[in-house]
Amino acid sequence: PTIHRADYRPLPWTVERIDLHFNLDPTATVVTSRLNCVRNPEVEAGPLRLWGDTLECLLLTVDGAEPAAAALRELEDGLEVDLAGERAVVEIHTRIDPQANTTLSGLYLSNGGFFTQCEAEGFRRITYFPDRPDVMARYTVTLEADRERCPVLLSNGNLLEQGELPGGRHYARWEDPFPKPSYLFALVAARLVVLERKAQTASGREVLLQVWVEEGNLDRAGHAMDSLIHSMRWDERTFGLELDLDRFMIVAVADFNMGAMENKGLNIFNTKYVLAKPDTATDVDYEHIESVVAHEYFHNWTGNRVTCRDWFQLTLKEGLTVFRDQQFSADMLAEAAGEEDAASARAVKRIDDVRVLRAAQFPEDAGPMAHPIRPDSYQEINNFYTATVYEKGAEVIRMLHTLLGTEGFRNGMDLYFSYHDGKAVTCDDFVDAMAEANGRDLDQFMRWYAQAGTPRLGARGEWNAADGSYTLRLTQHTPPTPGQAEKLPLVIPVAVGLIAPDGSDLPLQLEGESQPGASTRVLELKTAEQRFRFVGLSAEPVPSLLRGFSAPVLLELEEDDERLAFRMAKDSDPCNRWDAAQRYAERVILALAADLGQGRAAAVPEAFIRAFRSLATDEALDPAFRAQAAALPAEGYLLERMSPADPAALRAALRLLYATLGERLAADWLALCERLPVAGEYRYHPADAGRRALLNLALRYLAAAGNEAGLALARQRFGAAGNMTDRFGALAALVQSASPAREDALAAFHARYKDDALVLDKWFSLQAGAWRWQDDAPGTLLRVKALLDDAAFSLSNPNKVYSLLGTFFRANPAEFHAADGSGHVFWADMVIALDARNPQVAARMARALENWRRYTPALQASIRPQLERVLATKGLSPDVSEVIGKALQD
Ligand code: ARG
Ligand code: ZN
Repeated sequence: PTIHRADYRPLPWTVERIDLHFNLDPTATVVTSRLNCVRNPEVEAGPLRLWGDTLECLLLTVDGAEPAAAALRELEDGLEVDLAGERAVVEIHTRIDPQANTTLSGLYLSNGGFFTQCEAEGFRRITYFPDRPDVMARYTVTLEADRERCPVLLSNGNLLEQGELPGGRHYARWEDPFPKPSYLFALVAARLVVLERKAQTASGREVLLQVWVEEGNLDRAGHAMDSLIHSMRWDERTFGLELDLDRFMIVAVADFNMGAMENKGLNIFNTKYVLAKPDTATDVDYEHIESVVAHEYFHNWTGNRVTCRDWFQLTLKEGLTVFRDQQFSADMLAEAAGEEDAASARAVKRIDDVRVLRAAQFPEDAGPMAHPIRPDSYQEINNFYTATVYEKGAEVIRMLHTLLGTEGFRNGMDLYFSYHDGKAVTCDDFVDAMAEANGRDLDQFMRWYAQAGTPRLGARGEWNAADGSYTLRLTQHTPPTPGQAEKLPLVIPVAVGLIAPDGSDLPLQLEGESQPGASTRVLELKTAEQRFRFVGLSAEPVPSLLRGFSAPVLLELEEDDERLAFRMAKDSDPCNRWDAAQRYAERVILALAADLGQGRAAAVPEAFIRAFRSLATDEALDPAFRAQAAALPAEGYLLERMSPADPAALRAALRLLYATLGERLAADWLALCERLPVAGEYRYHPADAGRRALLNLALRYLAAAGNEAGLALARQRFGAAGNMTDRFGALAALVQSASPAREDALAAFHARYKDDALVLDKWFSLQAGAWRWQDDAPGTLLRVKALLDDAAFSLSNPNKVYSLLGTFFRANPAEFHAADGSGHVFWADMVIALDARNPQVAARMARALENWRRYTPALQASIRPQLERVLATKGLSPDVSEVIGKALQD
């Protein structure tokens, strides 16, 4: 069934307090829930609505008595109870089987411990409840469990008491002082150890910070703790927001569908985003941990104190919180880099964010699942934790920040909290607060929340030598998306600079202004077409548009190779310098792919090699930035730019480009490998990370070219590495080459880390992502199939599935889409197998083929029957059937 945003109605009854009691048992947990229900006087009378999913109801009473048969009705997805008067106490006993719960939604077991995941609708798998985010209740929770199996008993808020019970059991009672929606409830009952620290909030309150991990992992918890403290300080400093609880806990769990979850005071994390030590985690892992810890922590205000009225508003908390974590990471990088290099450090982070948006969100916006950041309908809400809601949602918030300025944005945030603290609200409430605090009309801006699709920003410049003016004509249009044929013009902030022939930025003076001002300024494009006339120029400028990627759009600006090379060398905006390199590379790659796809000979243009080389080897630039500039556009993004998408031709082009750049720049890469190594003990620091990233990229190019010295260096660095970043970088270079050394290195890596689940994820993923460097080599699918039987692999563990299958389906298109169709058959087998145990994970894998209509006719013919086979599977989950149903819709 499809749920529509327009159908939202408040409930006639809500819950003021809930008292929960858990008698925890692996196969038969009894949950007792006492609800203090209150009539909502603003809503027409009606029954109490309780949602329930896979529950066994043992008892239900209203004010101590069983209701009359007619007053209690069973519905497909729960119960309905008639209540009289203004208040009622409803008590419900249910029995659940955590061990049988393979969905990892609700209460489940992981390594013998009990964990919960309630967002979005997992709470109804624990007990009957009005399981909607607009029902905010105060929780007290008592946990009872076997002392041996579960020495640690945690829930939201503050610990009230704990003690012994007969029969080797014990209990703990928790109380959360803040009203919250059910999706923020959590419990943990497991065998864990803790790293803890005391800290002071800005106002001087003492708080206890804890990171709970399995025994043996304490030496990997420190970075998460540091990240938490940095996050606290940042939110105090940047938004005046303090931790509101006496205790804040992070718990790491190995089986988890997503990255992490912001349960009030008890964040539960995928181990991947907590555990790090130099020997097991790469710089990128450290970075991700810092940003995910920050993300979940920031939710405490943007999500928890102010929450979503309904799930259509998801971007209210997610877009805003992603924006906040992006800003946090940029500030952390800038701080570490020091004043002089701060701008470049920030750009490196911005480029990362733009890469993610282009590689994941743009394709989503161009496919059958395209939706506005605030969707109008869904079949399964779990399918809408998307790059659009998160990443494009963050871009929309960033545009507000750009339009209103740092101070205006902060004023809007302050007003938002002053109005809505403790409430469940909508995206309109947020934008209204921004508008009111800044005295601005943001009505047209709201279209960003309503329209799907990636807007095309067209730009044309006209130079008038006679009067020294340059007229920029900007246009916009958004292509139709499913269910949205017509689109209206958006408010698009376009940050613009004009570059003089010598490469310097020109001060900008728009027609009608008395004097020139800053050299970058934000133009607001609000209609389908607008002209901006710059005056007082002495020579024709080169435009640099969308600086800092000021809007989530595709810029359509015609620039010849020479101009791209010029901007690669000269653009003062580092993001645009990078972008010029990406555009040039894209053009070269797509041309190579077209030639190779037609069986024609092809070569990389000399001019590109020159431009690429001068950027990659420019010693004046920060290594982290050079690593960004020298990394080619993501394959997923390139496929999106190809029509029809031909993964084999694209791969051939990429192989040729890697090999050419490896060979032609071999001396440069080898020189970098001499100069860049970081001396001394590993520390996670952006400056060191940048050097390691560039060095590893150099190895990758050398290895791809089969350069003997480079391969020897990769082998040597792999053997001698003192940290995971170096070891894994060298291994990745070997694996992405034709060198026979790859198998030995993979085996050595496996032997060293065979008991380390997170490191083995890297090992799986590297093999699933491996290209074929010789045409007669066996396909990657064979390896993937063999790895399914590896002792360390399990279809029940999401990290393993994402590493092996996710990488193969999403990051290795040429191998996945092998011409014989074997990858497609395998995909359907896997989606069907996964769906039987975990629909959320299955749906994520299912989405790997949603853009199938963009592929060549031969591939489409091979894919369609597999989509149909999955859709015809008996008992298919709503999650997968929504994805496949939409993919097959005409
Ligand atoms: N709110 C979490 C976060 O963004 C994501 C949890 C979503 N989980 C799910 N099963 N839909 O941090
Ligand atoms: Zn989030």
